[in-house]
Amino acid sequence: MYTQALFLSVLVAIAEARFGQEQIPIPAIASAPGGTSGEAQTLAGQSISTLLGAANPCAKLTQADLILSELGSGALEAAIGLVAAEQNFNNFVVDIPSICNDPTLPTSLPLRGITPLIDPGVVGSDIANALSNSSKITPLNAVGLSVAEVLVANGFSNFTAEDAAGNKVAASTLEVVSAVSIEVAPVSATPVAVNCGAAATTFVTVTKAAQSTAAAAVAQPSAAAASSAARPASSNAVTGVFTGFVASTIAGLDFGLCVPTMKFEPGLDGRSDTEFTFQAQDPLINKGQEEALNPAIIAKKICDQLTNVCNANAAAKAACTTAEGALGGKVASTASNWNTQLGFADALLNPDNAPQAGLVGHD
Ligand SMILES: *[C@@H]1O[C@H](CO)[C@@H](O)[C@H](O)[C@H]1NC(C)=O
Ligand SMILES: *[C@@H]1O[C@H](CO)[C@@H](O)[C@H](O)[C@H]1NC(C)=O
Repeated sequence: MYTQALFLSVLVAIAEARFGQEQIPIPAIASAPGGTSGEAQTLAGQSISTLLGAANPCAKLTQADLILSELGSGALEAAIGLVAAEQNFNNFVVDIPSICNDPTLPTSLPLRGITPLIDPGVVGSDIANALSNSSKITPLNAVGLSVAEVLVANGFSNFTAEDAAGNKVAASTLEVVSAVSIEVAPVSATPVAVNCGAAATTFVTVTKAAQSTAAAAVAQPSAAAASSAARPASSNAVTGVFTGFVASTIAGLDFGLCVPTMKFEPGLDGRSDTEFTFQAQDPLINKGQEEALNPAIIAKKICDQLTNVCNANAAAKAACTTAEGALGGKVASTASNWNTQLGFADALLNPDNAPQAGLVGHD
């Protein structure tokens, strides 16, 4: 125990000499509760190497996941500190940092959407450092996105994007489309016809970096990372199964696999074309639930599914509960208010193009 503590304090001193002291998340990891005796200190010691210039930038994300899984939620702040920490880079070799470009990392939901501090000497670091500060409190939308892509989507791209296998590409070449709207389907489309082509993150083909020493530092390259070098441009990194999958426009709300929108349409389930009912739009949410005249039934189904199947984060579930409490009556605005409250203001209420003649007098 004693030698371990001493060893750690030496490592921290070395690390602090490289960075500003306030950025060093190591002491917080070492003193985090949970785990077996000495485990936090061991994890802290391992974490230092992930912040050095030679490390693959994905290594500290894997390490933060490990800290959380080994020590438990008491170590959340410490793990967030590691995700948000600046990684050193060798100024004699490059003048911009490398950021992890593996959309699966970090895997723990509470660690997603948090971006790192950047050396203040890098052009554009003011944007990145403000994002890092705020994302620790309110995580950025990271559904299906790597930390590199989250940064690009939020205005900072002066860095090298590097996947867990060490493949590097200029961040400016990442095409990150942050989709905010669900578009109308063509009239001829089949029933569940929400159509959205904008949600995809397009991946460019990357080439293996010639002198990467970083790959060796990666503990567990994921299957996704391993295949990302050859990912076809049309592939959708988002894990949602809904054709019109888009993320919430509200920062911090991560609905996981689902889009929690509601529609308000006539003629559903054999009803007449003047009889409007509510229904969840995402087939994954909707499973086993038909449409309903009472919006509260649909709202409850949506909120339940966020936990049961969607893997939504706590903020998204809380927003759902709040929206449930503020639900309106059996009118179209109930569905549009619901969608807006959850960050899908542009969602169509009638994605199936059901006849709207009966809407008059309904709202
Ligand atoms: C990126 O930052 C480096 C280091 O500060 C700077 O030399 C370079 O001009 C910047 N590139 C862009 C595109 O801003
Ligand atoms: C980020 O937070 C640190 C510590 O609170 C502060 O010193 C720094 O000025 C902040 N940076 C930005 C760009 O907001």
